[in-house]
Amino acid sequence: MRIYKEKDYEAMSRRAASIIAAQVILKPDCVLGLATGSTPIGAYKRLVKQYKKGKLDFSAVRTVNLDEYKGLGAGDEQSYINFMNENLFSHVNIAKENTNVPNGLNKDAAAECARYDKVIADMGGIDLQLLGIGNNGHIGFNEPAKSFADGTHMVTLEEGTREANARFFSSLDEVPTAAYTMGVGSIMRAKMILLVASGKAKAQAVKDTVSGPVTPKVPASVLQLHPNVVLVGDEDAMSLL
Ligand code: GLP
Repeated sequence: MRIYKEKDYEAMSRRAASIIAAQVILKPDCVLGLATGSTPIGAYKRLVKQYKKGKLDFSAVRTVNLDEYKGLGAGDEQSYINFMNENLFSHVNIAKENTNVPNGLNKDAAAECARYDKVIADMGGIDLQLLGIGNNGHIGFNEPAKSFADGTHMVTLEEGTREANARFFSSLDEVPTAAYTMGVGSIMRAKMILLVASGKAKAQAVKDTVSGPVTPKVPASVLQLHPNVVLVGDEDAMSLL
């Protein structure tokens, strides 16, 4: 695992954006695995800026997002599809048909998960997977569990995860209790993984990820087994390393 400890959120975002930009420049039709949450927003802003300066071209880029709340869709402000439109897709020249997010409105979990796995397979896999990390070490919405899940599946969200994400909703009651998420296997099959972490609340999870045992109780710890992971964190997130 290559580790970059950056001074603050801005420096972390700059570093993460430069790695994603390099991927797009080196392989214009790359498949980017994308993440939501507040951590990657700064990196997305920088990518948009570079696109507006004419330095990046997303016209051939294809994307596949990690996860989506079950029951939410593009019409819901807090859905991840809406997050991606607002923070990236609507501001660059990516073709909407080249972007993919699990369909939270599909009530048939088995059908939706199978569809999404096929989307990833048909794209030929993921070149660069961007990941944030939950306070409990979750990646995507792979919550601590008894075993690592392989493909896309439905998860019941932990109360702590719902509480952490409640800041995006008007009340805790509105936070969905379930989600569709890419599995740990799908994430691990990406050629390269870029993990971003910011803030003191992530420090323990980052420490467990980097130097704890590999265990599904800390889903991100599995990244120790991937040959090409870059961790970019700010000083607060890295403070226990
Ligand atoms: C959600 C997402 C994760 C994300 C995590 C951390 O649970 N499903 O993909 O990494 O939040 O979010 P934040 O970056 O806002 O701390």
